[in-house]
Amino acid sequence: MSEIYYATSTGPVNIATLKYWGKRDEDLNLPTNSSISVTLDQAHLRTLTTASCSSKFETDQLWINGASYPLDGARSKQVMADLRSLREEIENGDSSIPKIAAFPLHIVSENNFPTAAGLASSAAGFAALISAVAKLYKLPTNASELSKIARKGSGSACRSLLGGYVAWEMGDLANGEDSKAVQIADKKHWPDMKAAILVVSDMKKDVPSTSGMQLTVHTSDLFQYRIKEVVPKRFIAMRKAIIEKDFPTFAELTMKDSNSFHSVCLDSYPPIFYLNDTSKRIIKLINLLNQSAGEIIAAYTFDAGPNAVIYYEEKNEKYVLGLLHQFFSHLGGWESSSFNPKDAVIPESFPL
Ligand code: ADP
Ligand code: DP6
Ligand code: CO
Repeated sequence: MSEIYYATSTGPVNIATLKYWGKRDEDLNLPTNSSISVTLDQAHLRTLTTASCSSKFETDQLWINGASYPLDGARSKQVMADLRSLREEIENGDSSIPKIAAFPLHIVSENNFPTAAGLASSAAGFAALISAVAKLYKLPTNASELSKIARKGSGSACRSLLGGYVAWEMGDLANGEDSKAVQIADKKHWPDMKAAILVVSDMKKDVPSTSGMQLTVHTSDLFQYRIKEVVPKRFIAMRKAIIEKDFPTFAELTMKDSNSFHSVCLDSYPPIFYLNDTSKRIIKLINLLNQSAGEIIAAYTFDAGPNAVIYYEEKNEKYVLGLLHQFFSHLGGWESSSFNPKDAVIPESFPL
């Protein structure tokens, strides 16, 4: 009888505060700049993935939220091949270990948040896939080592293998062996830090991250300035702000980097627009909130989509969430796909 082997794992979302946008090697997914992110709590947003393998399966297959997705793209194939070769090493070293590396894999995955809408589904998705297969294959689970495999599936996924505050060091080797995620600080380091997710739209984006960033690399002049002049300095400053728990600096750098990333999108040719009118209202509201508070108490950031993530410290929760609720009360949960931006009329100023 042919046995089915299986294992289940989850993958968290990470939201970049210093954005990855651009590849210097498209096959190995090597980035044009280092990036920084915060891995969010899996109690809310997560991917849940079961990996199974059996000699009776015919091909590798992936289902996401019930729909069949191809696993024959070069990047998925590379991820599967890397995982299989690690399993083969174990099998070759110990004859008592079942020979399952060559069996086709069936991956069944569920995202409990919108897929391909700028909320890092590729990150949580590949992180969950790699964790589940690593568990199935009983691989050694050094997170930074696994992050190199995750990176080949989706760049941002390498950061989801680690918790807390994570840097993806771009590395400089041509084979990518030094392009991996490392932890800057764990979650407990800054227990006050919170993130609110504002789902402006759960629609699939029209320009996927992979093609969008390469259009930017090839057509934007501003992009060269961003990767050479802006990001390297910002990386050092943001890392320091995280280590020192300096919220105003962390927040300012986060907002500026979101702006910079969306600027190079606009500077691409033809231009790429990820922000919509509601996103812009959120930006205005957060700026007004910070002005009224007399200090920076909240930071917005937007990935490749219109949905906002707001970072703030718990001590300011009532101001930040209270205000967001007042203006965006329709943005309640994941199911809210049809928010009318006209509902949000942001005043020129307001007392706190
Ligand atoms: P996002 O902003 O959500 O990360 P991307 O355009 O970067 O959007 O990536 C979306 C792609 O990520 C999907 O088309 C799919 O290929 C992959 N993906 C999303 N969820 C999963 C998952 N649970 N398991 C494996 N791959 C996934
Ligand atoms: C704007 O990691 O989704 O979210 O490597 O092509 O899969 P691929 O792209 P992806 O790009 C993420 C871009 C971003 C910024 C970030 O997460 O750093
Ligand atoms: Co993505």
